[in-house]
Amino acid sequence: MSGTHAPDDLAERVERRWAIAASVIAAALVAAAAFAGIHQATMPQARVETVDPTSLHLSGEFIETNLGSALQPDGSVMVRLVGQQYSFTPQCILVPTGTPITFRATSADVIHGFLIDGTNVNTMLVPGFISTITTRFDQPGERHMPCHEYCSIGHEGMWASVRIIDKAQFTRLAADRRRLDCVQQ
Ligand code: CUA
Repeated sequence: MSGTHAPDDLAERVERRWAIAASVIAAALVAAAAFAGIHQATMPQARVETVDPTSLHLSGEFIETNLGSALQPDGSVMVRLVGQQYSFTPQCILVPTGTPITFRATSADVIHGFLIDGTNVNTMLVPGFISTITTRFDQPGERHMPCHEYCSIGHEGMWASVRIIDKAQFTRLAADRRRLDCVQQ
């Protein structure tokens, strides 16, 4: 075929090409989402950590004296906390600036939300399972930590806070105590 096409014809061909491209992209996205969902459902995470929610206060990692922030040998900080209707323990978490902070948390009763304002920390606390999440705070200050999963009538009042202090100050406090929260500050 030779010759020229009318402008209308050209526009129609370009439009059809773009419609095909858009459909291919949409189909690829649907396929990727379906694959990710099916893959996750058929292959549970490699390390799911479980814990007995009925005996958290009696023994193991989440007994009361083990909650709060602890300086680790590698210089990072591990924070252990528990959510229960309708509070978090500790009520105020103390962490240093410029340090990798790993949170290990669980629930003593129902599902609660664990979110720290303005950070990537946003997960659920599920009874029977340990949620682990790592973050880092660059500026000192105070952040709000509300429960964001409806957990019954007291949900609205369930929140804690995270106080970020200077790293040197935190290190000084940690020299005297194994576990820290805002009360020691
Ligand atoms: Cu705990 Cu909502």
